[in-house]
Amino acid sequence: MAFQESTVPDVYQANFEPTAYLDYFKLGQNPLSDEFLHFLLKHYNATFKSGGLKGKLLIDIGSGPTIYQLLSACESFEEIIATDYTDKNRLELEKWLKKMPGAFDWSPVVKYVCELEGNRDKWTEKEERLRRTVRQVLKCDILKERPLEPAVLPPADCLISSLCLEAACPTLGACRAALRHLRTLLRPRGHLVLSGGFETTFYMVGDKRFSALPLEEKFLLEALQETGFTIEKLEKAQRPAEGSDDRSDYTGMFFLVARRRD
Ligand SMILES: C[S@@+](CC[C@H](N)C(=O)[O-])C[C@H]1O[C@@H](n2cnc3c(N)ncnc32)[C@H](O)[C@@H]1O
Repeated sequence: MAFQESTVPDVYQANFEPTAYLDYFKLGQNPLSDEFLHFLLKHYNATFKSGGLKGKLLIDIGSGPTIYQLLSACESFEEIIATDYTDKNRLELEKWLKKMPGAFDWSPVVKYVCELEGNRDKWTEKEERLRRTVRQVLKCDILKERPLEPAVLPPADCLISSLCLEAACPTLGACRAALRHLRTLLRPRGHLVLSGGFETTFYMVGDKRFSALPLEEKFLLEALQETGFTIEKLEKAQRPAEGSDDRSDYTGMFFLVARRRD
């Protein structure tokens, strides 16, 4: 167990190429990835729109090189902290945040979210707002009891984590432990917004194959209960039958909102 837990993340450090991963986020190139992204963006919009979740501090766990997951939340949280395990992912994020040459073009995704919010023309303002709201990009390891060590942060009002548990956790036991670790970052009754794919065994990043932990709905709900969360909302969708994408074998998508139980 200790052997697996210390080597699995290093596969990420060595092989996870952010620019190859970002291919999944080029809208209009693959109907299945578009569908996955649209599913997530619609539920982020519903969760963080006016009357939804809001607060001071939101931490995104395992951000990778992506910002789509923060586009709705940046309207209702004062500060966002992005995090990831790998140096390259954190650099790629900084590149976009600081408008450096070669940064990924998120504008089609930002425009889509603005359209969901009924404000398509304001996409440049949304980009600026997100850049202002993300205050730090920190190292994170959800397999550690204190995932953000050595950083010391106030308890967050909300955590987001998308497509990270199944990537980072080698076993179901490690996944339960990771949920316990994440709970410590939240204030009492704070929210965890979790999304990902069901029953994924692998996904490709460029020509590199990454194993994933196949998550089933029953396990996920039980694990959240056991680790001190109450589930408030669960949205699911099956992988569409039409269209093909052999870059991953997920069977469905989920988006859930849970609350720290105290
Ligand atoms: C499939 S990507 C998801 C990225 C992004 N959240 C998204 O929604 O597209 C999985 C991410 O998990 C990160 N990761 C791997 N092991 C981790 C660990 N032990 N702790 C935190 N993040 C980890 C990887 O670096 C990678 O960025």
